[in-house]
Amino acid sequence: MKLTIIGTGYVGLITGACFAEFGYETVCVDKDLDRINQLNDCICPFYEPGVEELLNKHLNKTKLLSFSNSLPQSVHNADIVFITVGTPSKRLEGDADLSFVWDVAREISQNIKKYCLVVTKSTVPVGTTQHVKQIILENVNQESFDVVSNPEFLREGSAIDDFMRPDRVVIGCENKKSENIMKELYRPLNLNETPIVSTSIESSEVIKYASNSFLATKISFINQVANLCEQVGANIQDVAKGMGIDKRIGSKFLHAGPGYGGSCFPKDVKAFINTAKKNNVDFSILSAVDSFNDGRISEITKKIISKSNLNKGDTATMLGLSFKPNTDDIRDSTSIKIAKILNEKGINIKCYDPEAMTNAKKENSFLVLSDDAYAACEESKVIIIGTEWNEFRALDLKQIIGKQNNLCIFDLRNIYNPKELKELGYNYFGTGT
Ligand code: UDX
Repeated sequence: MKLTIIGTGYVGLITGACFAEFGYETVCVDKDLDRINQLNDCICPFYEPGVEELLNKHLNKTKLLSFSNSLPQSVHNADIVFITVGTPSKRLEGDADLSFVWDVAREISQNIKKYCLVVTKSTVPVGTTQHVKQIILENVNQESFDVVSNPEFLREGSAIDDFMRPDRVVIGCENKKSENIMKELYRPLNLNETPIVSTSIESSEVIKYASNSFLATKISFINQVANLCEQVGANIQDVAKGMGIDKRIGSKFLHAGPGYGGSCFPKDVKAFINTAKKNNVDFSILSAVDSFNDGRISEITKKIISKSNLNKGDTATMLGLSFKPNTDDIRDSTSIKIAKILNEKGINIKCYDPEAMTNAKKENSFLVLSDDAYAACEESKVIIIGTEWNEFRALDLKQIIGKQNNLCIFDLRNIYNPKELKELGYNYFGTGT
């Protein structure tokens, strides 16, 4: 089977590298020549554990993987063409911007030379794959292709593992022929007995949005319960543990924090709400999840300022800038949003992040970067744990507080033991603890 992946962002690059690992000849295409040249030099444009090793293996050893700047060439003899281009939020309405998907669908249709599957793997609103089919039919007769929906469920920071050991593979097809080809494609996962959910195209598209939206709902829910815990003297970590042991609830995505960020949840929740609006369906639950999450940043920032009596000219330390650990991705990073508001109030922000400082500084010149967490904490009135990087769990907090007393620390991710920190002399504030 020859595969072509169009778009070499997080989804496309991981998908291409992993399909090569499955043993398939795979071409990844991008119109950004610089990015293609970087990839051909085995340089990954973003930090993702394990990607460079996979690129090196399949670019240089097995030679199953290649990168191309030419879509036409790469489509001609493909058996399956994956659309993995970005579908960012439109600024105002929150709708998904599908212009890249349409452009790529049109270019594919102009270059299909033999029967192939055209697969939407980008996160696309229900109805998109059928629209891709209409675009292709403008240039290609129906016998020469089929469209399929095959959403991904990759988490940044663990994307390769999520691809290789998924909880399930979802395929949305219109006929047995395309279903059989997709099942053949994912046969390497049969070893792990990975369930394949074969359904209609529309159901497949809804599964993706409904899954991300439900995870986001769990997060907003636990964050609201965390607020209640702070008022009634309960501990959100014990509450989440007591809830999560119930298999109907599950323990994942019940960690209280500053709200969900990243390149997916915020945009997917808003896009799903828009889909419901267009179909006159009441999505008031998800709308509440979305607006609570949007408001969480100012809620957390107000708490930091009031509890620590931070004033203009003071210095605060933000540890962690990426939207989550094990990535350098700062898109919709709650840490950076909080740092921005503090800086707008005249507070100096010293910061440290193991991977994301270069990306963060590019868009936030006010940040004062430090070489390590200890340097970032020096002469600060407040320390904020914004992202739960493991290295922050291992910090020598005794060294950090030194002779100071009552140094405020806001553990937004509850990575520390409140009792231990209070004994060290910190004025400790957890989230829901
Ligand atoms: C998510 C989905 O998990 C993945 O299946 C989908 O394919 C893409 O979107 P990702 O955005 O990479 O993956 O990160 P994820 O680990 O899901 O975290 C998303 C946000 O939720 C982060 O800001 C994280 O800090 C936050 N989060 C996550 C919580 O606040 N609490 C939790 O318990 C889990």
